[in-house]
Amino acid sequence: MMDWTDRHCRHFHRLMTGRAMLYTEMVTAAAVIHGPRDRLLAYGQAEHPIALQLGGSEPADLAQAVQLAQPFGYDEVNLNVGCPSDRVQSGCFGAVLMERPGLVAQCVAAMQAETDAPVTVKCRIGVDDQDPEIVLPEFIETVAGAGVTHFIIHARKAWLKGLSPKENREIPPLDYDLVLRMKRQFPQLTICINGGVAALDHARDLLDQGVDGVMIGRAAYHDPAAVLMGADALWGDEVGRDAFDVVANMRPYIADHLAAGGRLHQITRHMLGLFHARPGARAWRRVLSTGASCDGAGLEVVEEALAQVRAPDADGL
Ligand SMILES: Cc1cc2nc3c(=O)[nH]c(=O)nc-3n(C[C@H](O)[C@H](O)[C@H](O)COP(=O)(O)O)c2cc1C
Repeated sequence: MMDWTDRHCRHFHRLMTGRAMLYTEMVTAAAVIHGPRDRLLAYGQAEHPIALQLGGSEPADLAQAVQLAQPFGYDEVNLNVGCPSDRVQSGCFGAVLMERPGLVAQCVAAMQAETDAPVTVKCRIGVDDQDPEIVLPEFIETVAGAGVTHFIIHARKAWLKGLSPKENREIPPLDYDLVLRMKRQFPQLTICINGGVAALDHARDLLDQGVDGVMIGRAAYHDPAAVLMGADALWGDEVGRDAFDVVANMRPYIADHLAAGGRLHQITRHMLGLFHARPGARAWRRVLSTGASCDGAGLEVVEEALAQVRAPDADGL
């Protein structure tokens, strides 16, 4: 998720789940080719398994981006066919590609030729006045024909005109049933569902109904303890992590970042939701968000914030 799942966020999230696949922010093929590649693609080994999400619509550019990313050793390369933002539309990629399954097939074929990692596709159920019942199976069939076996489907349309990206994550209605039917229609494919899943019980319910996986975006970011700390149980693992342990495990990572000249806020901005709905959560957020932005802020700010949740006062949630 752009501006959210940077490497600091992913390091933090990985401390809570060993199993869930973590996705990078979308990186455009052009940025990989022409931009600060190391800064865009570098990550810590602790983040595995990790998927690189690319945006683009030029098969040759996407192939080159995959080739350039190859030495970084991502576990999966994902093509974004779901993002509705203006900027992305103007480059003719993201959700608008739901209208061009043949081009998507060319893109993924070119990408696959450059990597042994699985190339996956994240898409919507349709855009604008498309009929999802018709276009989604056609899209899947065409793209699967190019060799993709793994789709992550955000179970709502994107409306490319008139809605902001945020509204496009909320207003078009969710159609889980259509995605579940896609799994039944294409049983040989890995079909994961995305959109509006806020709790692990809901994810488990969707898995029980037949999908192969559930991608959780906003809830994992805003309430990582509830979503990520229990996630490994979906694979049958024992889970017993604690939010305080997560903070303790973040300390050396934060210390290294500060020693390298980084700022505290770059990491702790992703940790604001860790004590979501627990006593002292509001004070935790307040101390971290105000303190961490100050020049020279260090681990003492984290300790001060932690004291708020260890001994919550009247500040409540
Ligand atoms: C801040 C933000 C940034 C996002 N950036 C991306 C992105 O880079 N690539 C992508 O495929 N989806 C992106 N999304 C969409 C999410 O991946 C997800 O599809 C959407 O939020 C619905 O899932 P959720 O209800 O679990 O959050 C973003 C969402 C948010 C809130």
